[in-house]
Amino acid sequence: MHRLPFAIGVTARAQRAGSGLFLNALSRTLHSTSFATVTVEAISSSHPAEVKNLVQGEWKVSSGWNWLLDPLNGSPFIKVADVQEAEIEPFVHSLCRCPKYGLHNPLRAQDRYLLYGDVSAKAARMLAQPQVSEFFARLIQRVSPKSYNQALGEVNVTQKFLENFSGDQVRFLARSFAVPGNHLGQQSHGYRWPYGPVAIITPFNFPLEIPVLQLMGALYMGNKPIIKVDSKVSIVMEQMLRLLHDCGLPREDVDFINSDGKTMNKLLREAKPQMTLFTGSSRVAENLAVDLKGRIKLEDAGYDWKILGPDVQEVDYVAWVCDQDAYACSGQKCSAQSILFIHENWASSELLSKMQLLAGRRKLQDLTIGPVLTVTTESMLEHIQKLLKIPGSELLFGGEELENHSIPKIYGALKPTAVFVPLAEILKPDNFELVTKEIFGPFQEVLGKSVNGTTYAGIRARTTGAPQNHWFGPAGDPRGAGIGTPEAIKLVWSCHREIIHDIGPLPQNWEIPPPS
Ligand SMILES: NC(=O)c1ccc[n+]([C@@H]2O[C@H](COP(=O)([O-])OP(=O)(O)OC[C@H]3O[C@@H](n4cnc5c(N)ncnc54)[C@H](O)[C@@H]3O)[C@@H](O)[C@H]2O)c1
Repeated sequence: MHRLPFAIGVTARAQRAGSGLFLNALSRTLHSTSFATVTVEAISSSHPAEVKNLVQGEWKVSSGWNWLLDPLNGSPFIKVADVQEAEIEPFVHSLCRCPKYGLHNPLRAQDRYLLYGDVSAKAARMLAQPQVSEFFARLIQRVSPKSYNQALGEVNVTQKFLENFSGDQVRFLARSFAVPGNHLGQQSHGYRWPYGPVAIITPFNFPLEIPVLQLMGALYMGNKPIIKVDSKVSIVMEQMLRLLHDCGLPREDVDFINSDGKTMNKLLREAKPQMTLFTGSSRVAENLAVDLKGRIKLEDAGYDWKILGPDVQEVDYVAWVCDQDAYACSGQKCSAQSILFIHENWASSELLSKMQLLAGRRKLQDLTIGPVLTVTTESMLEHIQKLLKIPGSELLFGGEELENHSIPKIYGALKPTAVFVPLAEILKPDNFELVTKEIFGPFQEVLGKSVNGTTYAGIRARTTGAPQNHWFGPAGDPRGAGIGTPEAIKLVWSCHREIIHDIGPLPQNWEIPPPS
């Protein structure tokens, strides 16, 4: 694949500007996206993009390709390499080459902590350039349709994260400590130690933010990761890896594979990474935990609650937050509001009618509502019908397929929907499982357990936060992973190693004591 400059509308603007000033700007533009091998707006069935694998520093194709359908019109527009079970050997070999003590650690190749501070600083600068952030925001929109602001938000979080770990911040992640011993010459040192070979598996809904934050965390601590992003969106991470290479990421530090879950599962069982970070559904998470004999950390499905207590205030604001939390990204955030408990005081306020008005503003044209990538329209409608059979339940709004769309049938297209279910009915064991089933789409129940250990409290509280400035991850599960912060990186991507120095001297006149 040739490297294509990203230059949307250049000809038209060149005609308008025609000045030296413009040429300077143009050369900067071309330079800033010179890592890219795709032109975002041009990707179509007549100009399909290709996504390759990266193994041992080389971009490679595989024998098979997976054709992706454009989620907005159903035409095949991206071919993604599809590694077959018989082709995993180079990936297994590459991972197995990394020793258990990692690519660097507090006692070895320490210069690489500085290298990664430098790579992060350069990548943050690149992502801060408007042409580059626009490139990634638009690319995200093509494969995981969400509004421009939501897509750009993902790029901005990633950019801030990279800024956070610039300069010396990477080495500070590996800060050690020492405890005085019992006698002269004895001292114990606690180190943050890498796992060595590791794997990262991430879902479709945040194609840039989740893989970059976890990948960089793994690298900072000295691990060698293989990363698999859901093939529906992996083009975004493929392009980001090319940007990172341009910013100095050593090409052999990361392998990138595109395959189905079954092939990835086989690879993991053969390569036996010391640790795997999985972000995705609880079903796959639980299976992997068994297959990998517990060497795993999880950020799994989210069924997120919002509770509105008795004090009714700022109804417009609260209605807006509820709308954003439930329907932004068409409800496909792991932190999306799945259930809203409202005190009867709110039920008699204008909250629900305001939420309905806000939901009605969402349009397919600007992707404030859009394709649902893992649940079909049919199964979402079926779920709604089941809920409506519960005595006292009621459709508040939505409950219909989007109008005038060409979203292919393999995906879902549902208007923002809310169903009221009486609290007393939910508590009945027969209903509980049905009501608390995660529907990863623009759907919420209103009433009348979040798996996330991240709680937002107060009048401006929301369920969906941007996780580069605070911990985001489940609580109460020893396998629970986190993302974004120094604590999350240290917990997920390093283990504790203790070295006790005991260098003497022996006490004067020491004699062999009786056996004990
Ligand atoms: N907790 C969080 O931070 C968080 C963040 C985003 C999404 N999610 C959750 O992710 C889910 C939606 O994402 P999804 O539908 O892509 O999830 P998924 O579990 O179907 O897929 C996630 C990833 O796992 C891979 N995979 C599937 N089977 C596998 C196997 N047997 N072995 C190895 N890899 C396998 C997929 O290809 C994909 O890359 C929702 O449940 C959502 O709540 C959670």
